[in-house]
Amino acid sequence: MGNGTTATGVVGVDIGGTGVKGAVADLDTGELATERVRLDTPHPATPDSVASTVTDLLKQVPGSGPVGLTLPAVIRKGIVETASNIDESWIGVNAVELFASMTAREVSVINDADAAGSAEVRYGAGKGVAGVVVVITLGTGIGSALFVDGTLVPNTELGHLHLHGGDAEDWAAESIREHDELSWKEWGHRLQRYLEQIERVLWPQLIIIGGGVSKKSDKFFPHINLSTKMVPATLHNDAGIVGAAMFAPTG
Ligand code: BGC
Repeated sequence: MGNGTTATGVVGVDIGGTGVKGAVADLDTGELATERVRLDTPHPATPDSVASTVTDLLKQVPGSGPVGLTLPAVIRKGIVETASNIDESWIGVNAVELFASMTAREVSVINDADAAGSAEVRYGAGKGVAGVVVVITLGTGIGSALFVDGTLVPNTELGHLHLHGGDAEDWAAESIREHDELSWKEWGHRLQRYLEQIERVLWPQLIIIGGGVSKKSDKFFPHINLSTKMVPATLHNDAGIVGAAMFAPTG
């Protein structure tokens, strides 16, 4: 990186249910160019309180470049359309206008799984894979990102497929495994049922499993048997930040 690149570099900010994380990303390598800064997500996580946390965080991240942000919600033309795991008061908010006016920076806002998935497909486990690729993130909820020859089809929300009499993420998310103290085998069987549905409707070339728990894929992958190739994500914690930065406004 040339002298001063970090100072003007593109910033990624990943807003989650427990933490807001940000750094300057190196979009040549898909790595973080500065140390990651993390602040607790405020509670309740209303638009104004989250925007003020993001403003505080940006003061601690070097550089004054454009900022890409994520939210765990459907984002259409900057507007938040859903709120399954965030405060309901987000619905209808123009998140781009809110963050731009609070932070006085140029910003973009996209869905968290779309961001993490985009980083995986450009730099990680999906690099160079042609055809249909699905990234599933397992965390508090279930996020999804769909790609066709590397191009994102945004806001797919495959975590809300109907499964076991309700919303798939309410039965198969990582948070449910923890809360219900499921064994890896029990959870693996739930994921099997879930991923079979993805296969049945999309027939992807590759399924990438992301989210923090993807680091422990050796524990639950053995309990899943699909006809589609399935691999763990490789960018782990940084995927959301890097993916957010990929979509930051460039001028
Ligand atoms: C939300 C998605 C989000 C996913 C992972 C779901 O509940 O509807 O927008 O990507 O959680 O955070």
